[in-house]
Amino acid sequence: MKAVTTLKELCAERAKLAEPLGLVPTMGYLHEGHLSLVRQAKAECPSIGVSIFVNPSQFGPDDDLESYPRDLDRDLSLLKDEGVDLVWMPTANEMYPSGFQTWVTIEGLTQPLEGLRRPGHFRGVATVVAKLFNAFQPSKAYFGQKDAQQAIVIQRMVRDLNFPLQIVVCPTVREPDGLAMSSRNAYLNAAERKAATVLYRALTAAIDAFVSGEQKAEALRDLMSDVLSFESLIRPEYVSVAGLDTLEELTGPIDRALLSMAVYVGETRLIDNMIVGEQGFETDGDTNS
Ligand code: PAJ
Repeated sequence: MKAVTTLKELCAERAKLAEPLGLVPTMGYLHEGHLSLVRQAKAECPSIGVSIFVNPSQFGPDDDLESYPRDLDRDLSLLKDEGVDLVWMPTANEMYPSGFQTWVTIEGLTQPLEGLRRPGHFRGVATVVAKLFNAFQPSKAYFGQKDAQQAIVIQRMVRDLNFPLQIVVCPTVREPDGLAMSSRNAYLNAAERKAATVLYRALTAAIDAFVSGEQKAEALRDLMSDVLSFESLIRPEYVSVAGLDTLEELTGPIDRALLSMAVYVGETRLIDNMIVGEQGFETDGDTNS
């Protein structure tokens, strides 16, 4: 495995790798969720690239950029064990050299949900992901359903800007008690960690209700809010039942939807989601369709 920091080194090492290359973009502090993407890539592609970059441009002024957990040595050892070929760990200056002024903005899909609460977040994500696609030239790139809006926004960008690659969306990996794995779970104390399972409990309550015949978007939203309200350590930011195509809130009977939420557990902001309806996530984004 080669681990490099400069774009020049990356391009030189990338040129030596077999096609097609699968790319897994990350911000590091890797857990089983990230590794599941690497394993999926490994099953589908002869060469695997991973990026580790805590991207400043996707953090707001009040976000946790400074305190975001980092452990590069451990990350590199995990990636080596998974058989990754090439890791890029650029500095912020390498990614955004002085004079940088080109940004990728996706319009409607970035307005609701996370976009509403984290202004500028998706502009930062889309720009860095576009740069990673240009640098690695992957044939496939792997994203987690854990960040469903991010995956949908990136799929849109790939279609709109004719990136010649396929986006693969992989299922959310959870702890045994249902909590979605996240680098930010490291912030939780014991009581908060216990309370954090309420996101999973709220989502599964809504899925169960839907399967039992409750199809009204309002009722599913209320049910999730009710489950959250029983947990005193948490403060919900939003609870959503949205269409997967526009991410706008749905009303009345639904046959398919993205159930999602953002919740503060103490000072820590956690997000989670599940999809209801016959089709799951569109895991295989078409190339340029
Ligand atoms: P990061 O939060 O490190 O996540 C990297 C990838 O891992 C994302 O595609 C995310 O959805 C996926 N992931 C995280 N937790 C997961 C889980 N429990 N199960 C399955 N997949 C999971 O998302 C980012 O970094 C950044 O925004 C990035 C795309 C790298 C751009 O900076």
